[in-house]
Amino acid sequence: MAAATTESVVPLKKLFDFVVRCMTAVGTKPSHAEPLANVLVAADNRGHYSHGLNRLDMYVKDIKTGMTVSDQEPEILKETAATAFVDGKNVLGPVVGKFCMEIAIRKAKESGIGWVVACGSNHFGIAGWYSMMALEEGFLGMAFTNTSPFMVPTRAKKPALGTNPITLAAPAKNGDSFVLDMATTSVALGKVEISDRKGETIPPTWGVDENGKTCQEPARVVSKGGLYPLGGPEECGGYKGYGLGMMVEVFCGILGGSAFGPNVRKWKSSTEPANLGQCFVAIDPNAFAPGFADRMNDLMTHCRNMEASEGETEVLVPGDPERKHMDKCEKLGGIPYHPNQIKYANDLAAELKVEPMETLKK
Ligand SMILES: NC(=O)c1ccc[n+]([C@@H]2O[C@H](COP(=O)([O-])OP(=O)(O)OC[C@H]3O[C@@H](n4cnc5c(N)ncnc54)[C@H](O)[C@@H]3O)[C@@H](O)[C@H]2O)c1
Repeated sequence: MAAATTESVVPLKKLFDFVVRCMTAVGTKPSHAEPLANVLVAADNRGHYSHGLNRLDMYVKDIKTGMTVSDQEPEILKETAATAFVDGKNVLGPVVGKFCMEIAIRKAKESGIGWVVACGSNHFGIAGWYSMMALEEGFLGMAFTNTSPFMVPTRAKKPALGTNPITLAAPAKNGDSFVLDMATTSVALGKVEISDRKGETIPPTWGVDENGKTCQEPARVVSKGGLYPLGGPEECGGYKGYGLGMMVEVFCGILGGSAFGPNVRKWKSSTEPANLGQCFVAIDPNAFAPGFADRMNDLMTHCRNMEASEGETEVLVPGDPERKHMDKCEKLGGIPYHPNQIKYANDLAAELKVEPMETLKK
């Protein structure tokens, strides 16, 4: 689908440079600003606009208020042949994530698996960025993070867990891959906020009101209620999403001794550091049966070639929607943005007194 004429296209490198400009303007060192820029560019390029440029002001604010620091480096507190426990030292989440996943990959090369858990971290963007780091080595990658509470557990009234994403990336043949990367709530918070702005009601599986009951008014869900776990109400299997969200907490906040569950700070709070827990895993498939990539390829090919149900054109596998978005960006010469997103970037540039983000000439 071609970009609407009102959209502006921003080459990936221009977005990367803009993120680095904004972050360094508030005192982030370039070696910390760059990993963040890589994750934000990847989010928008993959079509997850809620986790790219859109979140830049949050990271800027965290550095400005001192809630996130840039004068420290993550540190290994404990390690074995296959594990490491890391203190993120309250630096930007993507700096902690990159540090941890690189350790996990090194350990997977030596021991077949690397399992790394961090405390003292911050928002790391799209979880898939870290699982996909392992693909470059032909490894499977997994990543998890806890987040500020928004998910209302099945049968409860109030939120106790975050949108706690999970991701698994697995290599197939010829550069193909399976990339599952998802929140453990029915939808990300951003989708409810967008429905509110558009004046729409939301589907009954998305959120609850202040009494823990299904609510289709987005403003009430965001301000007074919370998000349903993946699946929605109990009768739709939402307790499984609740269980998955809690599983993420086991790997992150509980294993890592960071803030966890309802104790994680409120979303965008500037009164205390986030102290998030995160988990990064790399697995060498050669430690198991030979021919992993071939079988992965067979399974994905089978699914993609299945007859689509009435009204649908094709069956996808996880990672395909993002691949389609990246193809679209490549054809356009960059990432298409709605005028409001360009205005948001220009406003931020003016506030920080940096050069605005360059767009492709129309
Ligand atoms: N850092 C954080 O605190 C945080 C919290 C929540 C979410 N996130 C990120 O937000 C992003 C969006 O999450 P989401 O849950 O809204 O993603 P989503 O619902 O858009 O997609 C989830 C997964 O489903 C796959 N998928 C989508 N349509 C499909 C189809 N028809 N067939 C097969 N597979 C399909 C996608 O490839 C993806 O792997 C993710 O990158 C996630 O890591 C981050």
